[in-house]
Amino acid sequence: MFVEPYQLRLMTEADVPSVMNIEKTAYPFPWTEGNLRDCLKRHYYACVLEVGANICGYALMSMAAGEAHVLNICIQPDLQGKGLGRTLLHSLEQTARENKVEMLLLEVRASNKRAIKLYESLGFNELGCREHYYPGRNGREDALVLARQLSYCGHNTTFGNGPIL
Ligand SMILES: CC(C)(COP(=O)(O)OP(=O)(O)OC[C@H]1O[C@@H](n2cnc3c(N)ncnc32)[C@H](O)[C@@H]1OP(=O)(O)O)[C@@H](O)C(=O)NCCC(=O)NCCS
Repeated sequence: MFVEPYQLRLMTEADVPSVMNIEKTAYPFPWTEGNLRDCLKRHYYACVLEVGANICGYALMSMAAGEAHVLNICIQPDLQGKGLGRTLLHSLEQTARENKVEMLLLEVRASNKRAIKLYESLGFNELGCREHYYPGRNGREDALVLARQLSYCGHNTTFGNGPIL
């Protein structure tokens, strides 16, 4: 289990280079910098997880009409498997609840067993499958659509770029 202190804060434009460094090492088919900047421009919820002064993970989520969509959640490869992904996902869930979200949705590569195990352990269920959704090394790969029903906790917070969470 992870023991060093970490902090979660909202992502800013200044974080884009560090986030892109992790993105490129963690995914075989990473987002482009444009994808990331576009999410920030649209004021999607975006946070980074820092250990000391270093960003070691991040997550992005859109929220509208009672639904939230986890767009990206990622931990730098050498720190994976230490509980940080679970921490980030808990924080997304908390933010979603505070923003009156009732349903949390995400897509995951069918081959991404680690991520699927994490999501299932947090109560996500499979809603369906989008065939040939992702690019892959041997042709395209299916996406599983997972969902988790949330109960609203009763108060609202703002989201977007701003202060420490
Ligand atoms: C998926 C990801 C965010 C999970 O974060 P993480 O910090 O590695 O995961 P955690 O240490 O919090 O582990 C959470 C759960 O994942 C599962 N898990 C973690 N490491 C695992 C491994 N090596 N094998 C199988 N399952 C594993 C376990 O269920 C674990 O729970 P447990 O520790 O109670 O058994 C991270 O691995 C990652 O960034 N992967 C690359 C990017 C990615 O695939 N993102 C998801 C896109 S949908």
